[in-house]
Amino acid sequence: MAQRAHWGSRMGFILAAAGSAVGLGNIWKFPYITGENGGGIFVLIYLVCIVVIGLPIMMGEIFIGRTAQNSPVGAFRALSKPGSPWLGVGWLGVACAFVILSYYSVVAGWALHYIYLSIKGGFTGMDADTVGGVFNDLFADKTLNIFWHVLFMVMTVGIVIGGIQKGVERWARILMPLLFIMMIALLIQAMRMDGFKQAVSFLFTPNTENFRWGPATLEALGHAFFTLSLGMGAMITYGSYLKSDDDLVTTSITVGVLDTVIALMACLVLFPIIFTFGMEPGAGPGLVFVSLPIAFGQMTGGAIWSLLFFGLLTFAALTSAISLLEVAVSYFIDERGWSRPFSTLFCGLIILFLGIPSALSGGTDLFGSKMVNLTEKVLGEGNGKNWFDSFDYLATNWMLPLGGLGIALFVAWRVGGQAREQGFKAGTKFGKLYWGWVFLLRYIVPLGVVAVFLYSIGVIDFAE
Ligand code: PHE
Repeated sequence: MAQRAHWGSRMGFILAAAGSAVGLGNIWKFPYITGENGGGIFVLIYLVCIVVIGLPIMMGEIFIGRTAQNSPVGAFRALSKPGSPWLGVGWLGVACAFVILSYYSVVAGWALHYIYLSIKGGFTGMDADTVGGVFNDLFADKTLNIFWHVLFMVMTVGIVIGGIQKGVERWARILMPLLFIMMIALLIQAMRMDGFKQAVSFLFTPNTENFRWGPATLEALGHAFFTLSLGMGAMITYGSYLKSDDDLVTTSITVGVLDTVIALMACLVLFPIIFTFGMEPGAGPGLVFVSLPIAFGQMTGGAIWSLLFFGLLTFAALTSAISLLEVAVSYFIDERGWSRPFSTLFCGLIILFLGIPSALSGGTDLFGSKMVNLTEKVLGEGNGKNWFDSFDYLATNWMLPLGGLGIALFVAWRVGGQAREQGFKAGTKFGKLYWGWVFLLRYIVPLGVVAVFLYSIGVIDFAE
């Protein structure tokens, strides 16, 4: 067998793993759910979820991958035994990669379209209705959605085909620093705006008035999985390209901190703009694609800021998409013995086709309103979802938490204590945290995840 590829350096791994974590989840989703949930107190709960649930699972995933030197399915086999039910967690992860990337690429495609719009002159002089119309038109446009989705998939495939050091690591080294610089440029601009003070107090003053404790906590928890790329083996896969004595504790903490810093920076860029222009922080998923362009349209140099912002969103999405594709691709390389180019093209094509219904969710009845009627029968009145929403719902609310639960239970209860302790302590000066880690994985993570499930199926109800 060919020798397994490894990262060129620890920094390369950190950048690639942070690239996976930092994505649409940080810049598109986190600000709008924070806005919807009233700001400060939600941010605080989210931070607790990251530390108490997210970080332990991330360490667990990297531990599994680094110990087994194998992608998820093979890793579970190596650490348990052939044919063990634990392999199911690996399979679920591979399936999840296909599901998430198929619709993730569609949203990334919107960001590409907004780059194009920015270059054409941006949103200068457009009123709110016109900007809203731009997004609605895009959402309903079959050709445009498919075009950008295909283009984004071609970019992702083009990088992953290059392999670990020449593809994933090299591009993470280029894109991540650029992303950081763009973020800082936007932040400096935001700090000079009138609404900055208000944004800071919105984000960092815990205000429990009207706060919906139950749903908000669970939303924060689910998002902790999504934003740290946990529960589907992305970190197992990236961890498998680490050498066996690389420090997993410090790297996990670094990745978690970077991800959180970028998410908070995204809020510090968005909310000052929202407040300065007197818009609603709770505008929902359209926050980035509608509210923000309205503001860009009224700013001096708005087209440039808008180009920067959507460029940033695209880079962030790209480094996450790479990790999603890598999970699928490494499965066929490790388990089926396929070559990297063949496996990448194969997975890329399947995901491309799987994404077409998502790309058509706004433009056809079949994947739009008909699907909404259908899912309403399963999920109940008023909960209907089009194809796009159904995939997002399935992955974020079910597949990721289920995978995360499997990973936590596996590491905490199935892996031998000695191997686990040695693995955790290898190469790190934080060996003292070992028992805390095991405790969180054994009890707190399962409790939290099961609570999400019970809430999702309606057993726990937080109706006010
Ligand atoms: N973490 C990515 C984001 O925040 C999404 C992602 C989820 C990537 C799962 C890989 C695996 O956008």
